Amino acid sequence: MVRRPIVVANWKMNKTIPEALQFAGDLRKSLKETGREGVDIVLAPPFTALKAVFDSVAGDTIDLAAQDLFWEERGAYTGEISAAMLSDIGCKYVIIGHSERRQYFGETDEGVNKKINRALYHNLTPIFCIGETLRQREEGATFKMIRGQVEKGLDGLSEGAMSSVVMAYEPVWAIGTGKTATPGQAEEVQGYIRAVLRESYGREVFDSVRILYGGSVTPENIGSLMKEPDIDGALVGGASLQVDSFVKIIKGGII
Ligand code: 13P
Repeated sequence: MVRRPIVVANWKMNKTIPEALQFAGDLRKSLKETGREGVDIVLAPPFTALKAVFDSVAGDTIDLAAQDLFWEERGAYTGEISAAMLSDIGCKYVIIGHSERRQYFGETDEGVNKKINRALYHNLTPIFCIGETLRQREEGATFKMIRGQVEKGLDGLSEGAMSSVVMAYEPVWAIGTGKTATPGQAEEVQGYIRAVLRESYGREVFDSVRILYGGSVTPENIGSLMKEPDIDGALVGGASLQVDSFVKIIKGGII
């Protein structure tokens, strides 16, 4: 099955509203010149810039993702943002379980599972992040970790619900380090993720689920990563902050 490539810009805690709008305007201009058929493009600005960016790219088939949400529907949860609020402002996707949230904010697999469920309830597509640390890789625990994260994060999800999830493999040791996984290393784990999904879900999910790679993706390495059969796109941090390099990655994502 041919899976449509998807390239996601995760800006993390970067860009004010004017900076985000400048980027969105430049991106639209650049894509008009170069064309962008055949790839889904998603921007994940910080919460504060989501609405402005949505209004700016509306009609250009660039989709919006939030970088997180909270799993409760509403209520006394100071500082949190709900799924309903995100769909309200036009988000289509939401990143869930990013390793930085796991590392700095105590996010657990159980919390990730609740967030995925809440996102789906509001028709948001979760971009569900998983990945091993360097230590886990060196101890030979990569596959065990990945299996645990996948099974706990998706616990109780029906086949229908799973068909709306996008997976993202981000080895923690490759994030922001300039140390990209080799295409072979990424493919080995991403093929494994697909195989683990096959155990709980049918052939259709196995064939159709999109698995992104994230971790020091650049215009230089995107081409070789995208040649791998189980790499369906990229979740890009640092190189998504400049329009030039992001557009080059989008181009590299089309094959
Ligand atoms: P870098 O591309 O900066 O390594 O970040 C990857 C990432 O965490 C995307 O979510």
